[in-house]
Amino acid sequence: MDFSIKACDWSKGEANGFLTGKADVVVLGVFEAQTLTGAARVMDVATKGLISRVVKAGDMSGRAGTTLMIPEVTGIGAARVLLVGLGKQDAFNQKAYGEAVRAAWRVILGTKIGQVTFTLAQLPILERTGDWGVRAAILALRELTYKFSQMKSKPENGERSLRKIVFSIDTADEKAARVAAKQGVAIANGMDLTRDLGNLPPNVCTPTYLGQTAKQLGRDWKLKVEVLGQKQIEALNMGSFLSVAKGSVQPPQFIVMHYQGAGEPVKARGKNASNASNAPIVLVGKGITFDSGGISIKPGEAMDEMKYDMCGAGSVFGTMRAVAEMGLKLNVIGVVPTCENMPAGNALKPGDIVTAMNGTTIEVLNTDAEGRLILCDALTYAERFKPAAVVDIATLTGACIIALGHHNTGLFSKDDALAGELLDASREAVDPAWRLPLDDEYQEQLKSNFADVANIGGRPAGSVTAACFLSRFAQNYPWAHLDIAGTAWKSGAAKGATGRPVPLLSQFLIDRAGQ
Ligand code: BES
Ligand code: MN
Ligand code: ZN
Repeated sequence: MDFSIKACDWSKGEANGFLTGKADVVVLGVFEAQTLTGAARVMDVATKGLISRVVKAGDMSGRAGTTLMIPEVTGIGAARVLLVGLGKQDAFNQKAYGEAVRAAWRVILGTKIGQVTFTLAQLPILERTGDWGVRAAILALRELTYKFSQMKSKPENGERSLRKIVFSIDTADEKAARVAAKQGVAIANGMDLTRDLGNLPPNVCTPTYLGQTAKQLGRDWKLKVEVLGQKQIEALNMGSFLSVAKGSVQPPQFIVMHYQGAGEPVKARGKNASNASNAPIVLVGKGITFDSGGISIKPGEAMDEMKYDMCGAGSVFGTMRAVAEMGLKLNVIGVVPTCENMPAGNALKPGDIVTAMNGTTIEVLNTDAEGRLILCDALTYAERFKPAAVVDIATLTGACIIALGHHNTGLFSKDDALAGELLDASREAVDPAWRLPLDDEYQEQLKSNFADVANIGGRPAGSVTAACFLSRFAQNYPWAHLDIAGTAWKSGAAKGATGRPVPLLSQFLIDRAGQ
């Protein structure tokens, strides 16, 4: 699909070729109380009052989410007009805009329309900048058109007819809107990758497959990619990560992807190493390609969904792709420890004590708390990059779903500035996150009688104690943890990966790059 931006200040009575320009449909907004938007007023004049007649007749009330397709329109270049209800004008916020946009796309996707002129992105949206609507409209369309059919034996019916969308935008916002369109496409492409990886079955999307995908991503987007195998992981002394991997016949992989948009990091000296300019942001993603629970095996119901336990890794892949496509001027490193969590004669057992890369001894009281066991070594590994910040992303705890459901990602950080940045990004990207506590008091729940730390902290505040466990390995740089157990996928009839939190992470990096 091709997205383009064309300036037009409708309120000044301009049309900048929009009246004569050919399109299969022009999308126009109508607020409640029969108020036409600027574009609708100009088109109304050109169509000799067609739109105001339709509105006066009561065929379009302006109520949010309603639509009316008017065919065989004359007087303008577009063959049809799609009126979209926008609700109350003084309450037109991000949510109302999203509903209107989705309603419009749904109607259009149900037709053979190929070429669309879209005027809604230009409307003033409460608390949003003038270019914001373009990106949101692109993301909404790509969300609706995403399909995972690569595992079907026959290709599913068809060619999509929609191919060209022209957004009208105020002249003042034109430049920003072009950037927003580019970002929208890049983020959508990243999300598609994340969703594909999440949706692939665990017999296809293995650690080896993720390693190959990383290498391909490196070739396509000029990333430096390293994929470490069993021997190299052993040489790094990642005893905790390896303890999870050993019960599976699939070999573990440790993937490192470098995007250098800001050139070589300036050599860091002394204590303030992480303040060195060009210091990278490191994203660490949990890559459990199947979580059976291991010896502490899970109940059978919906166990298939544990193929999504690599969605943290998937979101790192998707974000790396988006960042590269956007060409952000900063350095980003993606780190993915990936393996299966399986029961076997040689598998990790409850009671085993393992030694992490940084020397910490861990008593494994439950082999199903494996995510933290692979992430802790990746967090230690990340120190070598002298990062400006590290964000890990993981489908870490069922308790996070109990706490926050499927709307908010759980955010944990001791660093208020970093937490604030991530929350701002989540709001801007409409990819919500909610901060949960990380107080030291919770660390007591991780006490072990036999080792430095236990890998579980009992039922109370299970997401917090999981984050507390990770925090012990993330002392040497600003760090935040995102628990995406509830947000990375949907269960039920529309079962599948969501592509979250790629929008949040992409926005965070856009902001960091100042772009
Ligand atoms: N991958 C799961 C967490 C999870 C559960 C994600 C359900 C999505 C849906 C994780 O490895 C796990 O099993 N966590 C345990 C921790 C417990 C043993 C302390 C959990 O949440 O039950
Ligand atoms: Mn588990
Ligand atoms: Zn898991």
